[in-house]
Amino acid sequence: MNPPIPLFFAFSLALVGCLVTASVNRADDFSSDESETTLKARYESMFKIGVAASPFLLKGPLADHVKRQFNSLTPENCMKPEALYRGDGNYNFREADELVNFAQANGLAVRGHTLVWHSQTPRQFFCDEQGKQLGKDALYNRLEKYMTDVLTHFKGKVYCWDVVNEALADGGPILYRTESPWYKICGKEYIAEAFRLAHKIDPDIKLFYNDYNLINPVKRDRAVAMLKELKDANVPIDGVGMQAHWDIGSFNPQELQNSIDAFAALGLEVHITELDMSVYSLYHGPDNEKRNQSMAQKTYTPELASLQAEKYAEAFAVLRRNAGKVTGVTFWGASDRFTWLNHFPRPGRKDYPLLFDDDNQPKKAFYRVIEF
Ligand code: XIL
Repeated sequence: MNPPIPLFFAFSLALVGCLVTASVNRADDFSSDESETTLKARYESMFKIGVAASPFLLKGPLADHVKRQFNSLTPENCMKPEALYRGDGNYNFREADELVNFAQANGLAVRGHTLVWHSQTPRQFFCDEQGKQLGKDALYNRLEKYMTDVLTHFKGKVYCWDVVNEALADGGPILYRTESPWYKICGKEYIAEAFRLAHKIDPDIKLFYNDYNLINPVKRDRAVAMLKELKDANVPIDGVGMQAHWDIGSFNPQELQNSIDAFAALGLEVHITELDMSVYSLYHGPDNEKRNQSMAQKTYTPELASLQAEKYAEAFAVLRRNAGKVTGVTFWGASDRFTWLNHFPRPGRKDYPLLFDDDNQPKKAFYRVIEF
């Protein structure tokens, strides 16, 4: 079955922006998990096991939990242009440096996220000092300066970057997200330009294209068309990041396998970059009542936990089979307490999408993932 493309999801992603980051709990008021086996040990011979976090969370027991279970770290927000860019030549590297220092002190690799995106990028990035929209050449100059400064700052500390994030549209006659300021100003060429610049500035880092819904056949085909064009034009691109914001209702392991095959056939590495398995399946049809029902708060029952564990088991069976093609798997959050899905798509609706509960304790799904 082909799940419908969640257009709503696309728009909401763009809107969610910084709203979500504000309301999180203290990181030091609960304990570390006591599981005997860890994710990173279990998967050591296959691929990196990563987690997304913000530096203010990397304290106390949550820091212990991250150190214990994971060997790769993605900045959930603090390396996005919104966090770094303060006008030409001015940057705020404070939080990002804190995160990198934590990773270095504890032997975690860092996945950079993200350089070129329509969302979480300040409006001023696309405007001159008078607030007038830049032309193509001026925007490319700004991009080159930004990428040079950022990639040089993190040189040797960040091993790969999501160079371009979410450039594709979910549907419609044009492959690309035409409402993006990048597309509006530069056309589709900005994508190739960003990869060429990144490679010129630092040929040692791995360069990824990152997007969501890539196990949906329609979106996958769109991604393959774009990536093939880039590869044919010798654009330096090493891999595809599949965000993997999945849910227990529509996750389909065969489609995951099909996408891995399609990307590997283009000679690209695959990273699972933002894995979570929501217990909610959003209804995308026209019936408002159904839609509201699909958004309503659920109780995390033992049945739901078992179903989720089953879905995670299916996903990791595919990922293990494809170790070598898949070279990294990153969870988008360290525990259910700190998942962005507690704030998205409905603020305040609790979700339970990860392997560790609110107190960092391993859930049923954790045991299914390490049991093989
Ligand atoms: C999300 C973060 O998790 C939130 O804290 C923030 O408020 C909005 O962005 N796709 C991406 C990620 O590439 O950067 C997004 O992260 C989730 C969707």
